[in-house]
Amino acid sequence: MKARSKTNGPGWTASQGRASRAPSIPLFLQETTIVVTVIGELRIENAETSDFPAIAALLRNTGLPPDDIEHHLEGFLVVRSPEAAIEPDILLGSVGLEIYGKFALLRSLAVHPDFQGKGLGKRLVSGITRTARERGITRLYLLTDTAEDFFKRLGFSPISRDEVPEEVKQSIEFTILCTESPSMMKEI
Ligand SMILES: CC(C)(COP(=O)(O)OP(=O)(O)OC[C@H]1O[C@@H](n2cnc3c(N)ncnc32)[C@H](O)[C@@H]1OP(=O)(O)O)[C@@H](O)C(=O)NCCC(=O)NCCS
Repeated sequence: MKARSKTNGPGWTASQGRASRAPSIPLFLQETTIVVTVIGELRIENAETSDFPAIAALLRNTGLPPDDIEHHLEGFLVVRSPEAAIEPDILLGSVGLEIYGKFALLRSLAVHPDFQGKGLGKRLVSGITRTARERGITRLYLLTDTAEDFFKRLGFSPISRDEVPEEVKQSIEFTILCTESPSMMKEI
């Protein structure tokens, strides 16, 4: 997709130009006809170190904590905006793994608010499950306040914290960030 020189959609004015564009609206979402075309073309990719600020922004934007993700970026997958060349600061989706031996904590599953409900969340979970299997992980654990039913439909079962392996329980999510959140597990 080509960059457009004249884009005055939401968040833009001719006098403001690109520097003042509202940062949370992906450029291509400002043209409805293009959105329809690109949904099927969105690719799930391994995150790069340089994606850190954009992942953190997406997590904050979707109400999730970005703490400690910089130490686990090699286990992250992202979905970039089709306009990534000119708006690298906007990601449409992310999901990460914190690996603890044969177990992993699935964390930071987030889909850009303008893009939720289109199947991306499901694709991200299936992508990270495949990645985990390739790395020899046998069980995925997660904590969620907001998406228990979503994960149940993808084969995760609620478990008590006592059933979570000690090494996974040492993660910042368990010890600091989500101390009250229900936990779930899936054999993969
Ligand atoms: C949860 C989240 C990742 C789902 O992503 P998404 O792209 O909107 O989900 P999908 O379009 O793949 O949804 C697949 C199905 O799950 C349902 N679903 C989506 N979010 C759900 C939720 N929070 N709870 C229950 N069901 C949900 C969808 O309605 C859809 O149902 P359908 O197949 O009958 O149409 C997304 O809503 C999000 O980023 N939420 C904010 C951050 C968050 O809560 N992350 C989870 C933290 S562990």
